[in-house]
Amino acid sequence: MAPIFKPLKDKEFFTPFGPVMGFFKMPPAFVDQMNAAMSQQLADHSDHLVGKVSQELRFDQNLINLAVSGVGQALVEYHAFAKKRNAFGDYDPSTKRYELQVMSGWFIRQFETEYNPLHIHTGCTISCAGYLNLPEGIEAEWEEDYKDHHPSHGHIQFAHGTDAAYSFSNFMAKPRVGDFYIFPSHMFHCVYPFYTKGERRSFSMNVVVDEKDA
Ligand SMILES: [Fe+2]
Repeated sequence: MAPIFKPLKDKEFFTPFGPVMGFFKMPPAFVDQMNAAMSQQLADHSDHLVGKVSQELRFDQNLINLAVSGVGQALVEYHAFAKKRNAFGDYDPSTKRYELQVMSGWFIRQFETEYNPLHIHTGCTISCAGYLNLPEGIEAEWEEDYKDHHPSHGHIQFAHGTDAAYSFSNFMAKPRVGDFYIFPSHMFHCVYPFYTKGERRSFSMNVVVDEKDA
């Protein structure tokens, strides 16, 4: 059934269409823990992922548990927010029980000149990206890049649909250590190269939120 809109105020501007995005600032202690937990013992899956980057190290169960301890709540809240938005508010999270299923997780170790071509994630419903480290000195590169009319160095870009009047199809985010973005797994995204020597490190997870009546 299509949700039925019932105005609650005399004037409203609302955004019922398109995907919901999430942003969460990760606590610095959690960022430190994730960086400390990265180990070369983890399996490198860069041959199976689209990124043109040095290493994509797959999470083991301990890392999945650690990541969920830091961002799991935000992922569940994103799910509940989107469900409520998509039902014009006619949805009560307090009547639900949520279970987070992590299908996979990995670190992305991107160095100067590397990039991640346009792609989506499959076998899940939610994906995410959290920033753990940036090359020292990248601020100077950004300062230069932002003099351009279309800055993008080391940025992630998300895209959905096509630009039309009053409908926007894409935006970029400049990574900052601690920033965490949540998005539907089918959403196109890519990461542009940067040229400052050093590592842009992030992690991603593919998850499903199972929902049952409480
Ligand atoms: Fe991705």
